[in-house]
Amino acid sequence: MKIVAGNWKMHGDAAMAHALVEAVADQAGRAPGVEVILCPPATLLAQVSTWLIGSAVKLGGQDCHAEAQGAFTGDISAVMLRESGCAYVIVGHSERRQYHRETNEDVRKKSARAIATGLIPIICIGETLSEREAGQAETVVERQLRDSIPDEVAEGRFLLAYEPVWAIGTGKVPTPEDICRMHGHILSVAADRTGLASPGISVLYGGSVKADNAREIMAIQGVSGVLVGGASLKAEEFCKIMASGR
Ligand code: PGA
Repeated sequence: MKIVAGNWKMHGDAAMAHALVEAVADQAGRAPGVEVILCPPATLLAQVSTWLIGSAVKLGGQDCHAEAQGAFTGDISAVMLRESGCAYVIVGHSERRQYHRETNEDVRKKSARAIATGLIPIICIGETLSEREAGQAETVVERQLRDSIPDEVAEGRFLLAYEPVWAIGTGKVPTPEDICRMHGHILSVAADRTGLASPGISVLYGGSVKADNAREIMAIQGVSGVLVGGASLKAEEFCKIMASGR
């Protein structure tokens, strides 16, 4: 089953969220067979969770703290996310790595905390444009994987998301051949790191996924689904992406 996750980032108010969630839940009910995850801003989680009662659509946070609790003003714990109805949490998104200086070690600790709390972390990795142009993409991604995945992970308890930084919000997408090659690389490194068989590891693709390229991307070998930013804020567009995963 393909996975379609929507990362709303710092967008959305209650009215917009309500309309969007209703459309997504309705589409999910009419066209099952895709695991749909919505990651709204933290302030909307509890409300969205009540709107999703009776629907198969899952809820995810956009980040969590590595510690269980403590004096960390402005941060959100994994337990808080779970209590707000989350089953998933995005960790190590490139915007967190860039604007909050999160390191692979931070991402590994957050992922471990998420797993210990019963959440499934969506661990994001991906090279920048300059790293790609320097021929470093595979090396960078390998380092990120080795250092961001927790030491002991069981099958089905984490997801990976390959998001080339230069493809996020730019309308630029790697070629299908590039995506296929990188996902193969990610699967083999992740299998080596975790000791799991690669068919048991799921890798989403993210970066400028839209209704008109989602089907082609999800058909690529090694792509388990998509992590969608901008296009997840438009009900019609996101519903089309969901339909592409069937
Ligand atoms: P985008 O963002 O779909 O707007 O490119 C993807 C992401 O950052 O997860």
